[in-house]
Order: sequence, then C-alpha cells, then structure tokens
Amino acid sequence: LMKVGVLGAGVMGAALGKYLAGLGRAVMFGSRTPEKARGLPRLSGFRNEVGTYREAVAYGDLIVLATRWAHTREVVEESGPFYGKILLDCTNPETPDARGLVLGHTTSGAEEVAKWARGARVVKAFNHVYAELLDAGPRFYGGSATVFYCGDDAEAKACVARLAEEGGFDPVDAGPLRNARYLEPAAQLMVQLVRVQAMGPSDVALKLLRRS
Ligand SMILES: NC(=O)c1ccc[n+]([C@@H]2O[C@H](COP(=O)([O-])OP(=O)(O)OC[C@H]3O[C@@H](n4cnc5c(N)ncnc54)[C@H](OP(=O)(O)O)[C@@H]3O)[C@@H](O)[C@H]2O)c1
Repeated sequence: LMKVGVLGAGVMGAALGKYLAGLGRAVMFGSRTPEKARGLPRLSGFRNEVGTYREAVAYGDLIVLATRWAHTREVVEESGPFYGKILLDCTNPETPDARGLVLGHTTSGAEEVAKWARGARVVKAFNHVYAELLDAGPRFYGGSATVFYCGDDAEAKACVARLAEEGGFDPVDAGPLRNARYLEPAAQLMVQLVRVQAMGPSDVALKLLRRS
C-alpha cells in the first residue's frame, strides 16, 4: 500500500487526493493552512489526514504536486527533501489568467520542477484531466479517457500508470520528462474547450485511439 502526500489542497489537489484515497491509498493533504484543509468534504470511508507541506512530503512515498504555477517553486523548495520519492506533477505553467503558458518549447514546467525537487522521480501526468472528470469518472461511451504520462524513471512511470489504470483511465506512455513540453500545451487545449468553448469539464476528455 502506497502512502500519498498531496501538496496544495485546492480544486485539483482535493480531487486527485480523493481519487487516490478511493483506490485505497492512505492520503495526507498538505496545506499552508491545515485547519482549512480539514474542512475538505469528508471522504467518508477513506483514510486521510492533513498536515503542512513538509509533513505531507515526509509522509508520502508518492507526492502529488497540485499548486498553481506562481507558487510551485516556493512550495517545492520549502517542502523537501524528496529523495527517492515519486513526484506526480499535475501542474500547468499557466499565466495567472490560465489562458496561456509562461514557458515551453525549450523547457517545461515538469523539467523545472525536477530541478527544484532534487532527487525526486518526477512524472508528469493528469495535468490535462479536469478535477471534475476525476470526480465523474473516466468512462465514456467511446471508451476510457486517456491519461498521458511522461518521465525519466521507469519504475515511477509504471507506478503512475497503475494508478491511472486502477481508476479506469487508459494510461499512455508519452516518453521522457522533456515531453511534458507537449503535455502541458495539451492541457491548454482542454482549457480552451472547457473554459472558452464552455464544454462541460466532466463531459470531454482526451482519448488516444489505437488499432490494437
Ligand atoms: N483544477 C483543475 O481541474 C486542474 C486540472 C489539471 C491540472 N490542474 C493544475 O493543478 C494546479 C492547481 O490548480 P487548482 O485548480 O487546484 O488551483 P487552486 O484551487 O487555486 O489550488 C491551488 C492550491 O495551491 C496552494 N498554494 C500554495 N501556495 C500558495 C500561495 N502562495 N497562494 C495561493 N495558493 C497557494 C493552495 O493550497 P493551500 O491553501 O492548501 O496551501 C491552493 O489551494 C495548477 O497548476 C493547475 O494548472 C488543475
């Protein structure tokens, strides 16, 4: 049984923490204000705790990074060390209005996170999955929603793939961590569809079609 520490008890941190708790993982929500995180909707039947960011990192074998980009560096640098831990990065390096990316092409948010979280085995995943979809579930008439993931540590990637698959998602290996340069813009495509074109956040998802 894997223990999970979630950094950031916001919309995505709460949804991903709840998703992982639902898969039987013990979850600690790390927050600047643990007393506020305690007010998260009771995840009845699931074991979960709250603590500071540092406590959540110390607690987890797998750490979910779910902060807005502007605060990500500070949170990562102040909550380590991460040595040997799997860091599931679902952040997007978005502008404050979430209608663009502040970096790309020559680097990615995930590659920057990997520099800040020394020793962590970073896997980019779930960044293009809306929190509402995690709550609603991944199954559509056309099949299960894809979770693209990338990273440089095979074991860490396999672990994240398993967590996607256990929850009914279709995990697709998207290569090394530098390919987060393509996964982060994919999240912007979802933002465009959901926020600008007003498709429901749990009504659309990315799906990779395969012949076999
Ligand atoms: N929302 C989605 O559906 C979704 C989907 C995929 C990816 N993402 C990505 O997930 C990340 C989080 O998005 P979100 O929608 O969950 O945002 P959010 O609701 O604003 O949550 C972000 C959390 O960051 C924490 N934080 C740490 N330092 C902070 C500071 N100085 N000021 C303010 N907050 C601070 C806060 O948690 P505490 O108050 O507990 O410390 C806050 O709740 C983003 O990078 C986003 O691109 C979101």
